[in-house]
Amino acid sequence: MADPILRWAGGKRQMIDDILSRLPPLTDFNDYYEPFFGGGAVFFELEPSNGHINDINPTLINFYKQFRDNLDYIITANNRLDDDLSRFNSEEKMKDFYYTRRREFNELQNGRCEDKLREAVLFLFLNRTCWNGLYRTNEDGDFNVPMKSKIIKTESIKGNLKRGHYALQNTTITSKDFTFIEKEVGKNDLVFLDPPYQQQSDARHFDEYQPGGFDEERQKELRDIALKLHRRGAIVMITNSHDAKNLYTNHDEFHENFRIKPIKASRSINSDSSQRSQLGDTDIIVTNSPQFWDHKDFDNFR
Ligand SMILES: C[S@@+](CC[C@H](N)C(=O)[O-])C[C@H]1O[C@@H](n2cnc3c(N)ncnc32)[C@H](O)[C@@H]1O
Repeated sequence: MADPILRWAGGKRQMIDDILSRLPPLTDFNDYYEPFFGGGAVFFELEPSNGHINDINPTLINFYKQFRDNLDYIITANNRLDDDLSRFNSEEKMKDFYYTRRREFNELQNGRCEDKLREAVLFLFLNRTCWNGLYRTNEDGDFNVPMKSKIIKTESIKGNLKRGHYALQNTTITSKDFTFIEKEVGKNDLVFLDPPYQQQSDARHFDEYQPGGFDEERQKELRDIALKLHRRGAIVMITNSHDAKNLYTNHDEFHENFRIKPIKASRSINSDSSQRSQLGDTDIIVTNSPQFWDHKDFDNFR
C-alpha cells in the first residue's frame, strides 16, 4: 500500500482504518470512483485496479496525470531542485530560490505559458517545501504559501513515489465537478465521497479548496446523488463533519438505507505528523455497504 504522494488539507490518513474496515474487499466491487480526490489517501491504500479519480482543481489533476505518465522525469527534476537548494548556505538564498520557483509555477499554472510537465515537477517541489503542504491561492489564482525551513527530500520519499505511480497506471484521471458520477457509476461500483466538509457555524461557508465553495445546497445535491447511486446498486461511502449528521438523518429514504458511524479524528494536513493540530473534531462515515449493514458499531441515530 502506498501513502499519499502529496500533503493535502482534509487528507483522510487519520481515519484510514475506520474507513477501510467498512469497505468491501477489492474482489467484491467493479470500478472504484473517488471524485473528491485531493491527496487520495483511500485510493493509495486500496490500490484498486479500475480506478476513476477526479478533483475540481485542474493543477492538482495535471500533477497526477504527469506523475502517472512521467515518473522518472519528475523524480530526476526534483532531485536536481533539491541539489540546487542544498548548495545555498543561507536561509535568505534558499528562500530566494523557493520564491523564484513559485513565480515560475504561477506563470505555468495560470496559463501564462504552457509546460504541463514542468508545472507538475514544481507542484511536487512546492508541496514538499512549502509551509505544511498547504495549497492556497490568492484571488488571481496564484499559489501564495511561504517556504518551510525543513523540507521533505525527494530521495526520502522515492519508494513511495514509485508505489503511487504504479497504483495509478490503470486509472482514469479527470478534473470536473463531482456530479459526473451520476451518469457514470454503475451497479456494484464503489464510490468514496470525501467533499469539503459542512460547517455548522455557517452553512454557506466558502471552502478552502475552491472559489465559490461547497455550500449546504451542494451537500444536499451530493446526498441525493448518493441515494440515486444506491438505488442503482452501487456501494457508496461518504465522509463529512459530525455537523452534517442531520443532512442524512432528516431524509427518510436515505436514513433507511444508509448507516452512520461517528468518528473522533484529528484534523491535519496529511503526511506531516509533526504539524498535526488536534482540534478534537468529530467526523462521520456514512455508507450503504451491505457487509456492514448489521455492523454493531454503526448507529442509525436521528
Ligand atoms: C476533503 S478534500 C479530499 C481529501 C482526500 N480524501 C484526501 O485523502 O486527501 C476535498 C477535495 O474536493 C475537491 N473539490 C471541491 N469541490 C469539488 C467539486 N465540486 N467537485 C470535485 N471536487 C471538488 C477539493 O479540491 C479537494 O481536493
